[in-house]
Amino acid sequence: MRIDILTLFPGMFRGPFDESIIKRAGERALLEIHIHNIRDYSQDKHHVVDDYPYGGGAGMVLKPEPVYEALQAVKRAGCPSGEATASPPVVLMTPQGQRFCQSMAQELAGHPWMIVLCGHYEGVDERIRERLVTHEVSIGDYVLTGGELPAMVVVEAVARLLPGVMGSPASGEEESFAGGLLEYPQYTRPAEFLGWQVPEVLLSGHHGEVQRWRRQQALLRTARRRPDLYVQAEVTPQERAWVQSHLEDAQA
Ligand code: 6GU
Repeated sequence: MRIDILTLFPGMFRGPFDESIIKRAGERALLEIHIHNIRDYSQDKHHVVDDYPYGGGAGMVLKPEPVYEALQAVKRAGCPSGEATASPPVVLMTPQGQRFCQSMAQELAGHPWMIVLCGHYEGVDERIRERLVTHEVSIGDYVLTGGELPAMVVVEAVARLLPGVMGSPASGEEESFAGGLLEYPQYTRPAEFLGWQVPEVLLSGHHGEVQRWRRQQALLRTARRRPDLYVQAEVTPQERAWVQSHLEDAQA
């Protein structure tokens, strides 16, 4: 997959993208990330990229011209034919966007190419949003100063879904959210640490019992911590009854 990121702060991406999963995906040619400085596309001799809002008010607005020029240049560069004819998703990072979730990550990971536009100041000129942006994404209900950290969150969530990026293909499906439930608790050796025991069933070697215990733990955890997810999850009537009768027990 190819990802182009348009930002006023390209330096913010260097550390995070030069480590771990994203770095390895790049080295293995599974993911190609290009960072572009919107300021480089300002025609203005002082490289101005923002201006006062029409109608007045606090803050500044990202001007349409540099964003337009940057998008055109990126679309040309990413197109094998050299023409800006391809139409990759153009994802605007904005607190006004749809809240990011696993299914959006899955949708974006299905594209061979996407462009991420990091909003700043009070936002981008509305004409850019209306005409050129295909997705508007927020990462949650809190305010950040710009779309850079949110863009990194989206890129990481998308990158780890690309074929071959994660070690084992099963791990993506079993984990939290993909099945609508939180994950069961995990333990590793030693079986006893400072007198703290690993649950007996996990040491039993009885695969069926382990599976049953994990399912129950995932259900209980989700019901307690994320009732919003629990009500949506696929749970049998028997399981619902079991969870109901165990909700009062010690925390899972
Ligand atoms: Cl995408 N941008 C900003 N500025 N703040 C946010 C956000 C995005 N998502 C959550 N808060």
